[in-house]
Amino acid sequence: MERYSGKAKDIELLDEKEVKIHFRDSISAFDGEKTEELLNKGEVNCRTSAKLFEILNEYNIETHYLKSISSRDLLCEKVDIIPVEIVCRNIAAGSFCRRYGIEIGTNFDQPLVEFFLKEDELHDPLITEEAAILMNYLSGEDATIIKAVTLAVNHILRNIFKSISLVLVDFKLEFGRSHEGKLIIADEISADTMRLWEINTGEIKDKDRYRKDLGDVIQHYKDILERLETITELPNIEFNTKTNIRISLKDSVLDPAGEVTFRSLKRNEYENIESVRLGKNASIKFSSVPSESLYKKTQEISNRILSNPLIEETKLSMEYFETSNEG
Ligand code: TMP
Ligand code: ASP
Repeated sequence: MERYSGKAKDIELLDEKEVKIHFRDSISAFDGEKTEELLNKGEVNCRTSAKLFEILNEYNIETHYLKSISSRDLLCEKVDIIPVEIVCRNIAAGSFCRRYGIEIGTNFDQPLVEFFLKEDELHDPLITEEAAILMNYLSGEDATIIKAVTLAVNHILRNIFKSISLVLVDFKLEFGRSHEGKLIIADEISADTMRLWEINTGEIKDKDRYRKDLGDVIQHYKDILERLETITELPNIEFNTKTNIRISLKDSVLDPAGEVTFRSLKRNEYENIESVRLGKNASIKFSSVPSESLYKKTQEISNRILSNPLIEETKLSMEYFETSNEG
């Protein structure tokens, strides 16, 4: 049986499609420099992860989660993990404050998505999207989908935690490719992978209690889980995903309108202009969560209806945005 042991979980390969993820009682911080065993931690994190994955699945966010098979084990789809950690921040904390000298607790006008290279030996450095693509850790298409999905997850989780009097400061996601080649969320989502503060007092409820030696780590993890388990009805969330399609004529195709514009620019003595090509832009708004399949659907709409693949080329991107301030 193929097995892999991480810092807090063991992964057992069941077949080419599925894995069993076992949550141990280990906790670690600072790239494994500080470690401890905390009684019941595995069970609490396993149940928290299961509950959060179930919630995300209810909202049609695609994850590796299939089902809980014991209090410490999840049955999940096997994925090839993308070695980039995606962090989404609503409020400044942690490495963002250390990096930029900004005060902890500073609210952001909009959530921020950051990429980190998953490499303990290098201390998981911040990585630009361009560098991650350049080094083939992911494709440009993956990056646009991953960012949109992360923002939708943020929208959902902020609402969920708000309903149980907790503020979602930031969180980390990992993505992978399933055996079918689908881009889905993997790993765990728990108090180990997010920052949560008590809404009224700002009390820290997450792994920062361990990082900062604040004590009672598991009591606070348990409290989060207990509150999550009181949720019976999920809030109604308005999702807004926008796909953009930029359509331009292939370089080899004559563009008379571009040519007219080019000549006009020359007549007006604009210098050093080599050529002008005109294109069109289409934006499609969907009232659903972003996903790789929505991206592919846009590609299909683009090829079938909006563009002529014989003479035109298209460039797609996907965005997620929140219109109301329900969270
Ligand atoms: P950071 O402020 O240390 O960059 O962390 C941002 C978020 O990502 C925070 O919620 C904790 C989470 N995180 C992990 O889940 N794993 C990690 O290895 C690190 C460094 C952070
Ligand atoms: N998860 C990382 C570790 O175990 C870093 C952290 O969460 O602080 O070392």
